Amino acid sequence: MERPDWDTRYREGFYDGAVQPHKLLTEWCSNLPPGGRVVDIAMGNGRDLLFLAEKGFACYGLERSQEALRIAGHTAHDRRLFLSVVKGDALHLPFKEDSFDGLFVFYFLERKIMADLVGLLRPGGILIYETFLKKQNAFDRQRNPEYLLDDAELIGLFQGLEIVLYEEGIFRYDGKQRAVARYVGRKR
Ligand SMILES: C[S@@+](CC[C@H](N)C(=O)[O-])C[C@H]1O[C@@H](n2cnc3c(N)ncnc32)[C@H](O)[C@@H]1O
Repeated sequence: MERPDWDTRYREGFYDGAVQPHKLLTEWCSNLPPGGRVVDIAMGNGRDLLFLAEKGFACYGLERSQEALRIAGHTAHDRRLFLSVVKGDALHLPFKEDSFDGLFVFYFLERKIMADLVGLLRPGGILIYETFLKKQNAFDRQRNPEYLLDDAELIGLFQGLEIVLYEEGIFRYDGKQRAVARYVGRKR
């Protein structure tokens, strides 16, 4: 199955409606130290980072799509917010180890980098992760199953974290059925 062309998707407005931060982040951000350093891996149009920048966090992001970064930059400028972003590949994380209080990943999966993600967190730092299960392909456009989770998979992908929340299932939001797994963990 082909990889999506993210630049074209963003250019064609595929994500124009996706402006609100993810609920999991809004529910758990109060566990982050005020003003702490946070990073969003595969940040897309920056909706989650912008939400945290508004709350006074020092916000860093990584994204491969130039077009997504262009949109994030415009929105940040319009809202008078500052994001430190890197255009790059999540397979080669450009951030220092032990340097973030919070790290989040929404709707992006690269199993190879899970240990590296944990490595970016300081002890006590929080990791927030949400993405689709393979089951999602029963409800929606067909996504490459390589980038979707098996049932009960996400909970076993991280070492060195205390699990604070794990849930998975079929949820209904934005009028659509979504088969997702959600994980929140704290680095020991
Ligand atoms: C489904 S979107 C999710 C975007 C954002 N996290 C959100 O939930 O709104 C997946 C994102 O991953 C980015 N992406 C895909 N492969 C990547 C890689 N290897 N490194 C960095 N970003 C990548 C895409 O450009 C796209 O913006």
